[in-house]
Amino acid sequence: MGQQAGRRSWAEPWKIKMVEPLRVVSREQRERALADAGYNTFLLRSDDVYIDLLTDSGTNAMSDRQWAGLMLGDEAYAGSRNFFHLEEAVQRRYGYRHLVPTHQGRGAEHLLSKVAIQPGQFVPGNMYFTTTRAHQELAGGVFTDVIIPEAHDPSDRHPFKGNVDLGALEALIAREGAGRIAYVSLAATVNMAGGQPVSMANVRALRALCSRHGIRIMLDATRLVENAFFIQEREEGFATRSIADIVHEFCSYTDGAWMSSKKDSLVNIGGWVAVNDTALFEELRNLVVLYEGLHTYGGLAGRDMEAMAIGIEESLQDDYIRARIGQVRYLGDLLTDWEIPIVQPVGGHAIFLDARAFYVHLPQDLFPAQTLAAELYLDSGIRAMERGIVSAGRNPLTGDHTRPRLELTRLTIPRRVYTQAHMDVVAESVKNVHDNRAWARGLRMVYEPKYLRFFQARFEPLPSN
Ligand code: F0G
Repeated sequence: MGQQAGRRSWAEPWKIKMVEPLRVVSREQRERALADAGYNTFLLRSDDVYIDLLTDSGTNAMSDRQWAGLMLGDEAYAGSRNFFHLEEAVQRRYGYRHLVPTHQGRGAEHLLSKVAIQPGQFVPGNMYFTTTRAHQELAGGVFTDVIIPEAHDPSDRHPFKGNVDLGALEALIAREGAGRIAYVSLAATVNMAGGQPVSMANVRALRALCSRHGIRIMLDATRLVENAFFIQEREEGFATRSIADIVHEFCSYTDGAWMSSKKDSLVNIGGWVAVNDTALFEELRNLVVLYEGLHTYGGLAGRDMEAMAIGIEESLQDDYIRARIGQVRYLGDLLTDWEIPIVQPVGGHAIFLDARAFYVHLPQDLFPAQTLAAELYLDSGIRAMERGIVSAGRNPLTGDHTRPRLELTRLTIPRRVYTQAHMDVVAESVKNVHDNRAWARGLRMVYEPKYLRFFQARFEPLPSN
């Protein structure tokens, strides 16, 4: 009582029924594993990882109801009953008319980019995402960043750092003409900016602008549920609206969406693309047969679609999303209290360490964010991911490094997997690496693959002098 009287903490709206042991690896093993992996955390074996914060993608813990759903898989080649469950769930919750399932998000990005982009057309978006931009460029599109400038500053506390800069978009339309714009590629929340949300006011205004010019808005709905939480929390008039309601309204301002269900929808695999326009749908439904599988399974098993349909419903529960983001914030608050530089405000799915501020002595060409991910793994066996110059890749026209202002290392929190005690251990390891930051020397890239280099690139440490 006393000081704490009246306090009400959030807690997970679930309890744990099954556990998976973690492996603690010794410092010597970690040194060997990291060298074998070319100092790239994507190339580590998961058996050599203690707490895995590489990604929140496909790493979710499913509920007992989802596991039960797997047993109801209808593995018919065509017309599986689980497809219709998924279609109903997407229509009810996201509100689009037509659904095409895909094996995961990038399968959907591939199809949509192929049917909706003419070579040479611009694809303005609120910051790039790696796979999204890669597919847009493969289809001949020219990605153009139209996120508000605040998004590029890790310390700017704008509440909706994912917003589209409507002035910048209007200038692009004026310069190039609406006919040269394939569609607006709108992400909610914005992964590469730090999991930052888009406001409802911004998407409404974007709708009005695009309608005036006859331009489509295609939504990356991968983490829209997390975006809805921030709208409920921060935007006037939404405090008493449900998460489900906010998600539905947001989608209503867009013409279609693609989804990596491996995030918000609490499954381990799956995705979809959904649109309102029947002609566009028919093209997508035809193309999916070529690349993914028949239009009623899109590369998935029937059981996967059932787990997705159930996961959509679970993801929209207000108490679920509050605990989900509460856990991310808990870690963010610990690091903020210790004055460790992170992207502020804390976003929906991850803590992004600001590697530029962390290693002020390392130029971007020495890969500070990649170095930080390597140092964290060495310190404790925690696996993070680079989101800086390596992820940004090269300019397809000039071949130069793309040099993003944000040089970040992402600690991504899987959904319903780790506890608050794990977050304490993570924070303490980050603090230790921060305390020893002056000793970091940086890395040199020794192997660079052509596409999405961050997945498979290899590095060597620079010698200490
Ligand atoms: N869009 C966003 C915003 C994403 O974060 C991802 C994947 C995709 C699309 C592609 O979906 O992986 O199912 O093919 N992001 C993962 C991550 C890989 O770790 O952030 P996918």
